[in-house]
Amino acid sequence: MSRNQIEEIKDRLDILEVARSYITNFKRSGTNYFALCPFHQEKTPSFSINPELGIYKCFGCGESGDVFTLIEKMEGVEFSDALEIAAKRAGVKLERNYSEKDKHIHEERQEILKINALAAEYYNYILCKHGQGKKGRKYARERKITKKLIDEFKIGYAPRAYTNLLKFLKTKGYTQQNLIKWGLVVSGSGRVYDKFRSRLIFPLINHRGDIAGFSGRTILKNTKAPKYLHSPQTLAFDKGKFLFGLEQSKSAIRKSNFVVFCEGQLDVISSHKTDVKNIVASLGTSLTDDQLTLAKRYTKNIYFCFDNDSAGESALIRAANMAHKLDFNVKAVNIPEGKDADELINTNKAEWIRTVKKAEPIVDHMMRRLYRRLDLSKLEDKEEFSKIILPLIATIPQKIEQAHYLHRVSLILNVDDNILAEELESIQRSSDIVPKVNTEKIKAVLKSPVSVKEEYLLALILQHLQFLEASLKNINQTCFSSPLAREVFSKLKRYCAEKKRFSLKNFTSGLEEHEVSFVQNLLLKNLDKYFEVESEILAEIEGITKILTKSFLQNEIKKMKAQIEQAEITEDKAEVRNLIKRLLEVTEKIGSS
Ligand code: CTP
Ligand code: MN
Repeated sequence: MSRNQIEEIKDRLDILEVARSYITNFKRSGTNYFALCPFHQEKTPSFSINPELGIYKCFGCGESGDVFTLIEKMEGVEFSDALEIAAKRAGVKLERNYSEKDKHIHEERQEILKINALAAEYYNYILCKHGQGKKGRKYARERKITKKLIDEFKIGYAPRAYTNLLKFLKTKGYTQQNLIKWGLVVSGSGRVYDKFRSRLIFPLINHRGDIAGFSGRTILKNTKAPKYLHSPQTLAFDKGKFLFGLEQSKSAIRKSNFVVFCEGQLDVISSHKTDVKNIVASLGTSLTDDQLTLAKRYTKNIYFCFDNDSAGESALIRAANMAHKLDFNVKAVNIPEGKDADELINTNKAEWIRTVKKAEPIVDHMMRRLYRRLDLSKLEDKEEFSKIILPLIATIPQKIEQAHYLHRVSLILNVDDNILAEELESIQRSSDIVPKVNTEKIKAVLKSPVSVKEEYLLALILQHLQFLEASLKNINQTCFSSPLAREVFSKLKRYCAEKKRFSLKNFTSGLEEHEVSFVQNLLLKNLDKYFEVESEILAEIEGITKILTKSFLQNEIKKMKAQIEQAEITEDKAEVRNLIKRLLEVTEKIGSS
């Protein structure tokens, strides 16, 4: 894929038009378009698009990117797929220069997906229609799996016989060797036979909607056979990168902006009988980073719903730490001991929904759990408490939240805050837990009003380029106290002096990377003010310029007064006079402005 093609697609696509296929009700404001953000829930629009630059940003949740990331996020696909979708929209034919090996892998994967689709249909037919599916139907009834769920999850049944599927697929022209390789058939003691027998079949549908493999739950009560069997790793299936239910749940995940992670496939399936349709499970293996990263395309909020026993507790702690490191906000769903989601749902749906709603932030949950289990008047129990809780706090992505929990731990354990903070630091150092700290919000709080005004002024100018010349004449770069704003402003001024026509793209191409993102932010800023006529904009620019000039001059006056005092001490009379003269000039300027 050439870079040129990517650029070509980008140039041909109007990001606004692409966005409008997912998001409705854009309102124009200056050069930007605002709508309700699709990535978080909000009542007033803070999702903005700048069609000229081809970028979007949400001022509520911080999501930002270009047309490709927009498609990735909205469709829940990877870059390569987003590219394909974008190319189609743009009417660009992608040149693919696969190597021979890539081509072979691609083709084999397609073959596997095709045969899996065929096998799924076969199993589904048996479950729904065939005489051999009677026991499967009875089991599905017992497990309260409705017809609707069978359709939605493409559930099937593999009968007891040994070579049903094998024969069926052979008639379709597949070789025994490939059927073994792709995990539908196994060979042992000189015989070749179907891998799944007497099992309810759950197709493993990936987030692209393809059937990557299968999982089978035995329907037999007294059997030595394992309760579940899964397809082996193939070119189309990797257990560690798979999330069961993602395809069926992704739109609900995006809408609710959280995902429930549970342990079993039947938990996922049953939950789709209720309002909790934002739910996935791994296939009985412990959670991997790949699975979390997959889920992160849809939300940054994760609710773990593991068994309420000691194995579940360790799994929960491990999973929470992993999720924290990937910047997730983590909660725990507290299901009654001895039950799993599936059982709870089938006894009381409303209770399940309530339980999910009541999910607690992970640290609160663990603190309460440990508090119940331990005797915190004992030293060794205090130690165990902090041994579990502190690493969990250490991985929290937000510093403010960390401080909050640290303080609570100090109260509970009756230990000084500072001692705990030191311990926390040593944990972070020793276990290479270097949480990505989200400082954006903190910075926003600390930002002085002056710099907010400066950014507002720059945003006003950049968003209303028709006044560029007029505003540049009036504004002196000393207006800006923030070095970044000052630098960007002087570059803007220089650019305009050199070039006749202003082009945003051309201008930003001459900026440093951090300056570009600064400018992009300004371009996308919601100015929170709607101007009826153009003269109002100019007046606003002048007004802010005056305020900023004034505050700059007042600062100068303060400095000069200090210098005068200093000069008086050293009896440098000439300097004193000089300074007083300048002081007068400056104060005069303030009076006239
Ligand atoms: N699992 C597995 N192999 C087993 C047992 C379980 O791969 N021998 C996986 C399955 O994906 C299962 C998950 O681990 O969904 C959770 O297992 P468990 O809690 O034992 O089963 P449930 O999901 O409750 O299954 P069921 O309700 O069908 O008994
Ligand atoms: Mn179960």
